[in-house]
Amino acid sequence: MTANRAAEPASGRAREDQVRTLFGEIAPRYDLLNHLLSLNVDRWWRRRAVRALGWETAPAGTYLDLCSGTFDLALELAGRPGFEGTVLGSDFAFPMLAQGLPKIEDAPVSPVCADTQLLPFATSSFAGITVGFGVRNLSDLQAGLCEAHRTLQPGRRLVVLDFTVPPGRLMRAAYLLYFNHILPRAGRLISGHPWAYSYLPKSVEGFPDPPRLAELMRDAGFVSADWFLLSGGIAAIHVGVKAPAGGPGRLQGR
Ligand SMILES: C[S@@+](CC[C@H](N)C(=O)[O-])C[C@H]1O[C@@H](n2cnc3c(N)ncnc32)[C@H](O)[C@@H]1O
Repeated sequence: MTANRAAEPASGRAREDQVRTLFGEIAPRYDLLNHLLSLNVDRWWRRRAVRALGWETAPAGTYLDLCSGTFDLALELAGRPGFEGTVLGSDFAFPMLAQGLPKIEDAPVSPVCADTQLLPFATSSFAGITVGFGVRNLSDLQAGLCEAHRTLQPGRRLVVLDFTVPPGRLMRAAYLLYFNHILPRAGRLISGHPWAYSYLPKSVEGFPDPPRLAELMRDAGFVSADWFLLSGGIAAIHVGVKAPAGGPGRLQGR
């Protein structure tokens, strides 16, 4: 099915096709727009996400970055001093992966074209899983969370970084002005895509708030799901822990 470029985002399977097509179309400008429209704060958010992963306890492990796009989060992990493992960066939009290939040439990062909602990996494969600005795009969020839980090794962490609507009144007003008015116009102008950057605020608005996302992570099997806000609540990091082999456990020291 070909997604209609002029159409507003749909739901269910049609939304999945639209999302894949959308990211395929904006891939050449994705990195530029990402850093420009977030005023480069996204780099700092990704560093915080990697810090929450607890990779230091398994520096030679195999890690998975879901909805990896052009690999920025995968590279953030792979580039940490002392990291000796490998990172698989998986995404279902091939043009996003292709766009990022030159960036991973000399890094221990491998591309995989896969749907987050149905991962082609064995159970308990990964020492840690990250996903940056990705779960918000899933048409079946619970399927994605369950797949992350299944493929994670016991006792290890899933780190979810995504936008959220700030709780404070002032910050929320500034955020809504920027996200609903400035960002869609700037995004349309630079990317040339009619609605890609209107989709972004809509997808954040329709996404579960941090307590609800934590609940959904627990429903997917994580024994604990804690979160903290970034930059006044524009973004949040959730950390889910899979029960250790011997039984349930809580997240240890961040
Ligand atoms: C906003 S980008 C984030 C890219 C990257 N993680 C980053 O931090 O910049 C969202 C990515 O999620 C991918 N995506 C959305 N739904 C997906 C799915 N069901 N399976 C795999 N990738 C998906 C898109 O193709 C896109 O590359």
